[in-house]
Amino acid sequence: MTVTIVGAQLGDEGKGALVDRWGGPADVVVRFQGGDNAGHTVVHDDEEYKLSLVPSGAVRGKTGVLGNGCVVNPRTLFSEVDTLDERGLEPDVRVARRAHVILPYHRVLDGAEEGEKEDEGLEAGTTGRGIGPTYEDKAGRRGVRVGDLLNPSVLRDRLEYVVPRTRRLAESVYGMDLDAATAPDLPVDLADAFDVEWLHDEFVDYGRRLREESMTVDCGDYLAERRAAGDRVLFEGAQGASLDIDHGGYPYVTSSNPTAGGAAVGTGLGPGVAGRGEVVGIVKAYLSKVGAGPMPTELDGPLAGQIRERGGEFGTVTGRPRRIGWLDLPMLRHAARASGFTGVAVNHLDVLADLDDLRVATAYDVDGGRVETPPATAERWAACDPVYRDVEPWPDVDWSAVEAYDDLPAAARDYLEVVGDAVDAPVYAVGVGPGREATVELTDPWSG
Ligand code: GDP
Ligand code: IMO
Ligand code: MG
Repeated sequence: MTVTIVGAQLGDEGKGALVDRWGGPADVVVRFQGGDNAGHTVVHDDEEYKLSLVPSGAVRGKTGVLGNGCVVNPRTLFSEVDTLDERGLEPDVRVARRAHVILPYHRVLDGAEEGEKEDEGLEAGTTGRGIGPTYEDKAGRRGVRVGDLLNPSVLRDRLEYVVPRTRRLAESVYGMDLDAATAPDLPVDLADAFDVEWLHDEFVDYGRRLREESMTVDCGDYLAERRAAGDRVLFEGAQGASLDIDHGGYPYVTSSNPTAGGAAVGTGLGPGVAGRGEVVGIVKAYLSKVGAGPMPTELDGPLAGQIRERGGEFGTVTGRPRRIGWLDLPMLRHAARASGFTGVAVNHLDVLADLDDLRVATAYDVDGGRVETPPATAERWAACDPVYRDVEPWPDVDWSAVEAYDDLPAAARDYLEVVGDAVDAPVYAVGVGPGREATVELTDPWSG
């Protein structure tokens, strides 16, 4: 039995909170895609933890695994591990030897390509963490994997091929002067980021620490052994279905598969493992989005500002104000099918309290017809007019006193029914605040 937690929308739905909530009975919490573009928040006992790479189960002392589908920036990893250590958590983190490594030049290329696209209005608004270029190198069979960091001569071979090629790309395609002293947002000198010797020294050191702390694993073998020993595995998705490179609003997406199928490919456990377990889609009661791309239900003006302020809708990783929109049921239907939701958790009901008007989009009108799921191209999706249904707003209440489903305002319960009907899956939990206790649980996914 496994539980897979995935984002149903555009990221930042509150996955960290639910991983924390349902991480109790788990023994191992596994990230299967993405990297430090994620920002997952866990709030417990007045302490807030913002985790980019270390799986959110660390807050409960669970083993965290970064699967082969992840892209790993060792600098972020160790800095997060050290910070958690200082806060007394002593995280036990394992990293797949098949996972790919984000090198400093990936971050440079991420920024350079976004800069070029900006001229055409095509930028995705990436987190700048080098995610796309690292997955590009993976697909191009020129990437550096975590296992390569353990073998200095293999690492040298890899770098000697890829670094001069990447230099040529930076200089000829992007016209960069790599001898300039610094690059914005890059923690190392630009020249070092493209220097084989410097990179080799730096990343051999990371490899040494990974080895000394016995952090690397063959992910599939490791997880299979833990499962054979009776341990429970929770898969922690990052991003959300509409940011999926295959199922999202391409090209305004991330470069991995946040939908539940990623839990198989990104860990080395077969599809039946996650597929026979619970797959819980995390839904925000409205939409928030960092970065560009279609969002037919987007709001502007004071109402968006009000929801943004109340919901603290500023990027965990970048601090950017998030775009805000009404709940989009076509987007949820699409996500539910792509991931095979067995249940959903609906967060942030408290944020929507006390509004004068409340709406959800039930379908879209596009090209003279009506559709129930998003069109496959971003251009057509952007051309969609939402078909709205007015729903009754609920009052602001003392959310800390809401412990059971029946304690929720009646209109909020109606709203949950609308969501459950759209995704054809039961509501397992409802978020009425950021803390562990502020989740009203209807069904414990581990009980199935
Ligand atoms: P994730 O990336 O999906 O893990 O979500 P983030 O952590 O980036 O963003 C969700 C934010 O909302 C965090 O600050 C959470 O602490 C907070 N949060 C989660 N659930 C709720 C909820 O039900 N109500 C409120 N008000 N905040 C929530
Ligand atoms: P969590 O796990 C929200 C968005 C970026 C950009 C696009 C591509 O916290 O939900 P990337 O850096 O991945 O190449 O950027 O995806 N994005 C996220 N938005 N939450 C996230 O993660 C995100 N990770 C990436 O803003 O639009
Ligand atoms: Mg986030």
